[in-house]
Amino acid sequence: MAAQRETALFWTLLGRCRTLVPGQSRSGWSRRLSSLPPPPPGPWSSLSRLPYRDLYRLSVTDPDRFWGAAAAERLRWMEPFQQVRDCELSRGEISWFRGGKLNVSVNCLDVHVEKHPERVALIWERDEPGTEVKVTYRELLETTCRLANTLKTHGIGRGDRVAIYVPVSPLAVTAMLACARIGAVHTVVFAGFSSEALAGRIQDAQCKAVITCNQGVRGGRLIELKATVDAAVKNCPSIQHVFVSQRTEKPAVMGELDVPLEEVMASQAAVCPAEPLDSEDVLFLLYTSGSTGKPKGIVHTQAGYLLYAALTHQFVFDHQDGDVFGCVADVGWITGHSYVVYGPLCNGATTVLFESTPVYPNPGRYWETVERLRINQLYGAPTALRLLLKYEDSWVKKYDRSSLRTLGSVGEPINHEAWHWFHSLVGEGRCPLVDTWWQTETGGVCIAPRPADPGAPILPAMAMRPFFGIQPVLMGEQGEPLSGNNVSGALCLSEPWPGMARSIYGDHQRFVDAYFKQYPGYYFTGDGAFRSEDGYYQITGRMDDVINISGHRLGTAEIEDALDEHPAVPETAVIGVPHDIKGEVPFAFVVLKEDLPDAAAAAAVLQQLRKLVSTKIAKYAVPEHFLVVKRLPKTRSGKIMRRILRKVAMETTGDLGDISTLDDPSVVEEIVEAHNQYRKQREEKKK
Ligand code: WT7
Repeated sequence: MAAQRETALFWTLLGRCRTLVPGQSRSGWSRRLSSLPPPPPGPWSSLSRLPYRDLYRLSVTDPDRFWGAAAAERLRWMEPFQQVRDCELSRGEISWFRGGKLNVSVNCLDVHVEKHPERVALIWERDEPGTEVKVTYRELLETTCRLANTLKTHGIGRGDRVAIYVPVSPLAVTAMLACARIGAVHTVVFAGFSSEALAGRIQDAQCKAVITCNQGVRGGRLIELKATVDAAVKNCPSIQHVFVSQRTEKPAVMGELDVPLEEVMASQAAVCPAEPLDSEDVLFLLYTSGSTGKPKGIVHTQAGYLLYAALTHQFVFDHQDGDVFGCVADVGWITGHSYVVYGPLCNGATTVLFESTPVYPNPGRYWETVERLRINQLYGAPTALRLLLKYEDSWVKKYDRSSLRTLGSVGEPINHEAWHWFHSLVGEGRCPLVDTWWQTETGGVCIAPRPADPGAPILPAMAMRPFFGIQPVLMGEQGEPLSGNNVSGALCLSEPWPGMARSIYGDHQRFVDAYFKQYPGYYFTGDGAFRSEDGYYQITGRMDDVINISGHRLGTAEIEDALDEHPAVPETAVIGVPHDIKGEVPFAFVVLKEDLPDAAAAAAVLQQLRKLVSTKIAKYAVPEHFLVVKRLPKTRSGKIMRRILRKVAMETTGDLGDISTLDDPSVVEEIVEAHNQYRKQREEKKK
């Protein structure tokens, strides 16, 4: 059993960290606390008591006052800011709280340690149920300082990039905060990505170091993380150190670059002065897929991001002091950044780090965890709900869910069945269920049913209301803003907000082109939306070639690039098709070289293609369907008509629309015929 091999040395170390460095007594914190007068109620304290409607109105009519008051009171500054915002969207120039200096780790740790050092900051809900580990704010501050000092003594400082390739764990949080403490820039890479995907991100960001662990543990299985890092860093000359933590007992094979993390941390001081950083210094990069090209390093900065994550966490989820917040996302995605780490910690919450899967060891895992940890807010992805609702209701009902107060959904459209199941069965109809729409680029939730006036309705499967400062605009086909209700269009946001991305790392022009060019002066989200009769927003899905597999965003072009590397494959086209659990799955149309001897040879190529995608990107990116075709439908100018491929895959070829621009319309019949055969084969296999 994996559990028996778990030693969690990092946390043995935490135990040791209870002894503070000489000259600092634990009571020092409480002394400081008692000497602190309660802060006088500032403008934000009185503003934030306004009814939602008035507060929203203020946030859009006088954003300087709204955000200025919030930033001044909700964040601790080392130097006050001089200007609330200075933005020119058409050029992608965005700056908030200019002139201010602060440190994000101070706001997430020190300010809480002063008030309640022994409050639990993290509950690490480890893979094996019932083996959770609790970490207080004081412990988290001390380990963060030890790790920050470790980084410093290895030559890492302000502005240096550090890759974090670690599953959901206190180590991940500590690593992020340690970077923030010294002004280093972290880039967390989802620990399910392949070594090539990891290497690509390290190379793009020119990271100096990687933080990882020997193995991961998920769903009772061990994952060889260190081996993946070893393969990646072979091709990454910028890497000077690999810090390796021991998640399990199996000793990692240590090479030249490797540093045993617990060992070096143990000899480091548990205090580390926090670097005063400019509001607009980079806090982190997070790579995400676009419709073209390689994944882009989305840049988020210090003050605006943190404030936006904290306010959305508080208002959207109705987070109250003392709550246990359960966001089950992985730290490798933006949801983990904003709602496992930065938002909750800035608010002094107890945040749950969920290491396992929704079905380990059985489909009752979420609800058993809710009961055991007394979780107040549960925030997850529709794909998990769609999986769980297929099991007996008793898996939910046998656990006490009375602690739950707010339920949340994120990452992809939530279908009505999943929404009602979550709301009625899990939440017993008494917890508001918020369908939250946002993106890696937006930093935090932008459209959600809450906050709202008391008693305001929540409609199923709808994101509904813009958050403070967010002004959605729907654009028509001619690029004109659509007025009135009951309309659909391209979803844009017309005014900047503090949490929005600032750039794409190393390529600001790409940032401008991707988000601000199509509708000059507006931020274009890439999503379509509908504004209902009552003025509520419903997201209709991506308008570009980005697909969403189990809440993970992926560009079809990335999958095509991986497939095209095969020497027997001259050309491919990938589209997304609906899937009842994963939401969408990739469907690949593949043209093979004609000289393949037989069907067995073709089947072998398809197998190699699967392997290619999983080594170039990740397992979840491997197409569910492969259809071999003689050629792809192209316009006379050589552009692939994906619209036709979508119709073929969805079997809606009765209505193909205008195909007059096709170079050779007979290609359609060819592909339909190939698809019919493919479908028959699949049906036979099922029998
Ligand atoms: C894309 C962003 C938001 C954090 C996790 C995903 C889709 C996100 C919803 C929702 C319908 C949604 C959009 C968006 N999306 N939330 N509530 N309803 N679609 O972040 O990986 O940057 O993906 O996810 O298409 O553009 P991401």
